Amino acid sequence: MSSEIRSRLWIHNQWEDAASGETFPTTNPATGETLAHIARGAAADIDRAVVSSREAFESPEWRRMDPHKRGRLLWKLADLIQANADEFGSLETRDNGKPYFESRKIDVPSAISQFRYFAGLADKIYGEVIPVPGPFLNYTLKEPVGVVGAITPWNFPLNIVSWKLAPALACGCTVVLKPAEQTPLTALFLAELAAEAGFPAGVLNVVPGFGTEAGAALVEHAGVDAISFTGSTAVGKQIAASAAGTVKKVSLELGGKSPNIVFADADLKAAVRGASTGIFYGKGEVCAAGSRILVERSIHDDFVEALKARAEGMTVGDPMESTTRLGAIVSEAQLDRVMGYVESGKSEGARLVTGGERVQVDGAGNFLTATVFADVTPEMTIAQEEIFGPVAAVIPFDDIDDAIRIANDTRMGLAAGVWTRDIGKAHRVARELQAGIVWVNSYNMYDAGSPFGGYKESGYGRDLGAQAAIEKYTQTKSVWVAVDG
Ligand code: NAI
Ligand code: MG
Repeated sequence: MSSEIRSRLWIHNQWEDAASGETFPTTNPATGETLAHIARGAAADIDRAVVSSREAFESPEWRRMDPHKRGRLLWKLADLIQANADEFGSLETRDNGKPYFESRKIDVPSAISQFRYFAGLADKIYGEVIPVPGPFLNYTLKEPVGVVGAITPWNFPLNIVSWKLAPALACGCTVVLKPAEQTPLTALFLAELAAEAGFPAGVLNVVPGFGTEAGAALVEHAGVDAISFTGSTAVGKQIAASAAGTVKKVSLELGGKSPNIVFADADLKAAVRGASTGIFYGKGEVCAAGSRILVERSIHDDFVEALKARAEGMTVGDPMESTTRLGAIVSEAQLDRVMGYVESGKSEGARLVTGGERVQVDGAGNFLTATVFADVTPEMTIAQEEIFGPVAAVIPFDDIDDAIRIANDTRMGLAAGVWTRDIGKAHRVARELQAGIVWVNSYNMYDAGSPFGGYKESGYGRDLGAQAAIEKYTQTKSVWVAVDG
């Protein structure tokens, strides 16, 4: 596998240093090794990137590019990711700590499928003709919103970049991307491939750096028309407030505290498996993680026993090993945060069933064993706040109304799961849950065509899906033409 690492700013299809000349390290959380020193973008670099993306947006080459051709460029980019899939998988695993089989078999193929899906959308974006009174022809044009600032997190670095980039480019926008400081490597590699695919200079600029420096400057910049953000609720609120200063269009995909509800009539084995992958997949660093497992009281004890066994089978280890199920927590700071929640669970009276141990692999790295708390009550901190680690909180419930009440008793509303063999109950619960995504007898299913995003403080706007992309990355112009001569 090639080990070349791109570490500079990607501006106007060239590698550049930060104006300050500064860098910051990105590390492999499984080993502590510094992978690269990355150019530390800040306001001056964001400005250069926005000027470049604005120029590209206004250039005839991009503005007048036939939408079929935009689609072909996106398809070509998908081909190039495919051709470099092993390298993407390896970079992602080394930068983030997730198991290689997840990076290579889930993250990379998902990114490819998103570019292919939105390649197909590029020439299917159009307005309508509206029957207005009088001698007028009235029609709408769907025009690209302009320069998009994309700010992405560290949990699915390549994938979430693709969630933003593919639809924005399909709609004819240009993009300045600020990837998470913990995991900038796959975004930088992707930028180079976008140029190779044929996207003109400035259509995609990538400025790595810190949130308060590069990220905040992007949100404030008057040359940026829209912000597409995925990350924490706290930062999402700041972004919405700051973007108001220049009336930017904002979409926010924020945190979650998603309930995974198991009724007594569920297929217990499937439900335990679904609850386990719902919280332990991706080390629990998943915005849609099923972190509150609501279990009907009559099966509660059997369920907890079975979940404990599965949790104990989640092998912690070197992310490159095929037997590893739990990789390294993305950073020491994140592991400290998660351990803080483990302590709060214990001190507020939840019962630690298994896990909760900070461990090292070959004497290094930030690892945590799969953790299950039982006897959790809905008001405990571990039942209310997003932990973003492999920590499950099991909460018993008495009946369907009780389950719905507990499930909705949080400020978040991203996702939810329902396990039951009763089809009527499944649909009723799906309707009554305040969540942007509901999985019935399944969990963590995604597709480029299916919209993803939250209710309540989990955000607004949707990633993925054709309609959501058009809403987010285009604006509507209404044209009136007098036709009576
Ligand atoms: P964060 O929200 O600070 O980081 C996400 C992105 O926002 C990064 O690219 C960061 O550089 C940028 N950012 C940070 N401050 C900014 C600002 N003031 N203006 C513009 N951009 C800014 O998340 P962090 O600190 O890495 O993780 C903390 C917690 O956030 C996690 O424990 C988890 O609960 C939650 N989170 C949720 C994610 C999700 O997928 N919904 C993803 C990442 C974190
Ligand atoms: Mg890293």
